[in-house]
Amino acid sequence: MNIILLGPPGAGKGTQARRLVDERGMIQLSTGDMLRDARNSGTEMGNRVAGIMDRGELVTDEIVIGLIEEKLEGDTGGGLIFDGFPRTLAQADALEALLSRKGTGLDVVIEMRVDDETLVARIIARSTCAACGEVYNDLTRPVPDDGRCAKCGGMQFTRRADDNEESLKTRLLAYYKQTSPLIGYYHCKEKLRVVDGLGEIADVAASISEAMSKTP
Ligand code: AP5
Ligand code: MG
Repeated sequence: MNIILLGPPGAGKGTQARRLVDERGMIQLSTGDMLRDARNSGTEMGNRVAGIMDRGELVTDEIVIGLIEEKLEGDTGGGLIFDGFPRTLAQADALEALLSRKGTGLDVVIEMRVDDETLVARIIARSTCAACGEVYNDLTRPVPDDGRCAKCGGMQFTRRADDNEESLKTRLLAYYKQTSPLIGYYHCKEKLRVVDGLGEIADVAASISEAMSKTP
């Protein structure tokens, strides 16, 4: 099964994608993580996108579509979770074409709804394990008392350069202006399922499982 997790910054896309990877052996394709990897390894493309990401603007369609195209050349057997992609109608069209070329398609698009006030509170409190990428939150999912990542035992935690109030304003604006039209687009294609992203992480996971069981 191939799904999209669609939602604003801080909606919990990454958190839920990682659960689906652990529980169902699906493959997470996060363009945000791919771009951050490119930055950290200092590739030419990574250097080009660094400022754009820090400001909270969208990277060009050409770059992110290229990243997804490359990943789709690998094994996609366990089912795919698109996390943070597509974010524009052009990306949505490209994804459809790429999947159809592989003889497959999208099953469900899950819109995760969270109000803006909660998004800001979540993002300002987020940290990530530097070794394995597990996501924590000072308020709702703190790093364990022994200071070690619950998943890999790592002891270094990072905060994202774009997790500040100013960049977040730009990220939210980009979501409402460029990405939210995808909600209507997938609704018309009868792929859309809406999930309340405000509950506990486990409750949101249960709602996502239910949405996935009702494939169109
Ligand atoms: P990206 O990395 O995709 O960031 P984003 O969309 O802004 O989303 P986030 O990763 O911030 O939030 P999330 O929904 O994953 O939430 P999380 O699970 O971490 O993109 C970054 C940048 O890259 C973009 O701004 C753009 O520049 C570029 N980019 C990426 N893709 C692109 C594309 N396709 N096109 C163009 N440019 C692109 O959770 C957040 C926090 O909340 C965590 O602390 C977590 O522990 C906590 N939390 C999660 N769920 C719950 C819950 N239910 N209850 C309480 N706390 C919770
Ligand atoms: Mg994320």
